[in-house]
Amino acid sequence: MSRDVFSEYIVSLKNVSVYYNSHTALDDITLSFRRGEFTVILGPNGSGKTTLLKALCGLCKFQKGSVKALGQSPSSYNFLLRRKIAHVAQVEFIDPKLPITVRESVATGRAGVLGLGRRLSKADWELVDNTLEWIGISHLANKPLGQISGGERQKTSIARALVQQAPILLLDEPTASIDPNAQRDILDLIEHKINIHQFTTLYVTHELAMIPNRCDRIVMLRNGKVWADGKPEELLVEEKLTELYGGNGFCCSGKFSAHHIHH
Ligand SMILES: Nc1ncnc2c1ncn2[C@@H]1O[C@H](COP(=O)(O)OP(=O)(O)O)[C@@H](O)[C@H]1O
Ligand SMILES: [Mg+2]
Repeated sequence: MSRDVFSEYIVSLKNVSVYYNSHTALDDITLSFRRGEFTVILGPNGSGKTTLLKALCGLCKFQKGSVKALGQSPSSYNFLLRRKIAHVAQVEFIDPKLPITVRESVATGRAGVLGLGRRLSKADWELVDNTLEWIGISHLANKPLGQISGGERQKTSIARALVQQAPILLLDEPTASIDPNAQRDILDLIEHKINIHQFTTLYVTHELAMIPNRCDRIVMLRNGKVWADGKPEELLVEEKLTELYGGNGFCCSGKFSAHHIHH
């Protein structure tokens, strides 16, 4: 039988290491992700989660190893591939005077797909407006990006990623630094509204309570290494979690266990 066992993997990292000067951010990471798989990357702050996503979309150089996404190597210059990977970055500071509206910001997701210098068609703008509507932010369409709340900004980033219509979706702590109601809204979008199985999704979080109910797989990172990789029901258990977080002030809440037991 000549079936290529790797063909079902659309994203893979092989022996990838990333160093910042003498600091090792990723240490010999080997991981593969199947088409349509929803993986939660869990780990304490500084464990390398953001670096892993950046290495996958070509935003960070790795000193060792190789990365393949859709059969190609990501790099900051591989625009064709970058268009196929939608990346919702960790919340950043935005200049309140930045002269761009929510609608324009979402439209940049389309502009990225079409290529620089190409004008958006009527159909592209329709997709942008329908997505704003669907995410529930059309009332903000003409507001400057710097004048909306953190939760609204996250919804804007998710809308921008969705109009890109990419098969790979990378979400970096989409619920961090926003108020609890907004966190619920974002989780709700991810759990119920977005058809996540049309994407191969890597969802990063350091908070247990922010793990979406629908996840196929958990990868735990610690000190830049894959510390565990398996099914949620095997890994989301008190013993593992306490060990992952080094027992430092971490306590597995009852709410969390109840929430995830029925997979
Ligand atoms: N640009 C950078 N320069 C130096 N060190 C960095 C840089 N980015 C990340 N690091 C370090 O690499 C490690 C992993 O960072 P990161 O991937 O952001 O972790 P996480 O997202 O899990 O919090 C951390 O120790 C962090 O301080
Ligand atoms: Mg991070």
